[in-house]
Amino acid sequence: MKIFQLFVLSIIFLAAHSASYAIQDIKIVQPVIGTQGMVSSQDAIATKVGVNILKQGGNAVDAAVAVGFALAVTYPQAGNLGGGGFMMVYLADKKKTIALDYREMAPANADRDMFLDKDGNVDDRKARFSHLSSGVPGSVAGMIHALKNYGTMSLEQVIAPALDLADNGFVVSTHLHKSLKRASRRLSEIESSNKAFYNGNGTVPKEGSKFVQKDLAWTLLQISKKGRDAFYKGSIAKKITEDSQKHGGIITMEDLANYKVIEREPIFGSYRGYTIASMPPPSSGGIHLVQMLNILEGWDLNKYGLHSAKTINMIAESMKRAYSDRSLHLGDPDFYDVPVKTLISKQYANDLHKQISAKNYTPSTEIRPGVLPIYESPQTTHYSVMDKYGNAVSNTYTINASFGNGRVAEGTGFLMNNEMDDFSSKPGAPNMFGLIGGEANAIEAGKRPLSSMTPTLVIKEGEIFMSTGSPGGSRIITAVLQTIINVIDHKMNIAAATAAPRFHHQWHPDSLLMESGFDMDVINQLRNIGYSVDAPELHGNEYTPAWGDIGMVQSIVRENGKLHGTADDRRQSSLALGY
Ligand code: DON
Repeated sequence: MKIFQLFVLSIIFLAAHSASYAIQDIKIVQPVIGTQGMVSSQDAIATKVGVNILKQGGNAVDAAVAVGFALAVTYPQAGNLGGGGFMMVYLADKKKTIALDYREMAPANADRDMFLDKDGNVDDRKARFSHLSSGVPGSVAGMIHALKNYGTMSLEQVIAPALDLADNGFVVSTHLHKSLKRASRRLSEIESSNKAFYNGNGTVPKEGSKFVQKDLAWTLLQISKKGRDAFYKGSIAKKITEDSQKHGGIITMEDLANYKVIEREPIFGSYRGYTIASMPPPSSGGIHLVQMLNILEGWDLNKYGLHSAKTINMIAESMKRAYSDRSLHLGDPDFYDVPVKTLISKQYANDLHKQISAKNYTPSTEIRPGVLPIYESPQTTHYSVMDKYGNAVSNTYTINASFGNGRVAEGTGFLMNNEMDDFSSKPGAPNMFGLIGGEANAIEAGKRPLSSMTPTLVIKEGEIFMSTGSPGGSRIITAVLQTIINVIDHKMNIAAATAAPRFHHQWHPDSLLMESGFDMDVINQLRNIGYSVDAPELHGNEYTPAWGDIGMVQSIVRENGKLHGTADDRRQSSLALGY
């Protein structure tokens, strides 16, 4: 009897204990409200460009394409013409969701071992910062495809603001100044990049000064006048290939001419009555977002409390299993049979849910990618846009690292991507984000590297409810996951849901990263059950974690005819604006 009483008492104590930490770290913040339209992006100027297009009568796709081109001018860290990405579109009148894949493709002369040195080890510099690190860019084709098929305005109209910003300049923000300063050593040693960003002599543009990009303006003008062909067959294509060949790259005119945008079947899942629509492979984002939500649906996270040790443990255990599966099963579906149905099935999630319930904490070494023959027949930036018609766009695009491979194709003014590093250059060797992979994501000519980008739309009863997504490499999927859980389970407004500190686990390394703001008792409870935690709180006040932030989420939530927008204030340059 006594033992039973003690047991009950300790349960009550534990419940009260964790509940008391459940809400202490919610910031009191409010979203921006609009009724006619909303744009949330990582750059204030680009956000304004998008809102202006909406005010001129453009739809969400028109605005999204205008923002995409504007970011290529005002946010060169990640906004781009030389990269690729994914766009999710919700068309209100057709109640249809579209998933656009404009990811980079490996050039025809790429081969599996192209980044290995003579000892068979991955040459990281070659994979990340050489001309070989670039895949064939898809952004221009992607934007034009979206506009032609789902927009209402002309290409000239939606490029005009970007062209003006490049040609006549814009005022350098503190954030851009700092980013260019940080990258100056790497970029200014490359003549064409030095010319584009540092006045040809290593001078970092000052905050508050006007920044003009004439070569980029020339490029945008060619695209505006001649469309897709200017970039993939004409004068820009010539400049890209000449620059590539001059510096040991392998992109040819044929590679560019062969680039294809692909409309793919979105990944659909359900979570507590909401429909989740996200990006299918070659992104891993949609599959693992839905897989983790499926596992978590079996617990009442709201009852466990936001950021209690129990909630964090359940979510982190789900993350480990998802990233473990990612390492084996995910790659470009045109080259590798990805077992999509199984990975997003409620049945498989239920098996994983039971593993977690049975054991509080599992070290990553004991977690293996699932054997799945069972049910199967096999510096990025994100922005969200909604319009008054109920359409929505969720777009994530990237040149991979901040400022890509740092190499401007001579005379074009834009940076090329280093997306080839997203391939698995050697089985088991981690890429820039510590992600490991194998056969499914090995380099092959014409293949698209596996991505974590997770542009996501949440739909409720046939109407758009939420548009969200994030940059952050491997942490994108977990950042999006937590934003959705904060809104749906913890009923937080989108601003609070975005501001709340995040955590991340990716199976390997076996370490739980936590942003600043979690309760020390919660951190200690997690360490006590076995987690290796890396949190600023464990290092003293002066510590800035080497791993930086976990995501930078730009979202819009639509409720009762109102649009609630939030841009993540982890980056000071972001802005959500509605009207
Ligand atoms: O596609 C991917 O998963 C990566 N290339 C994304 C890179 C990224 O998010 C970097 N940004 N912060």
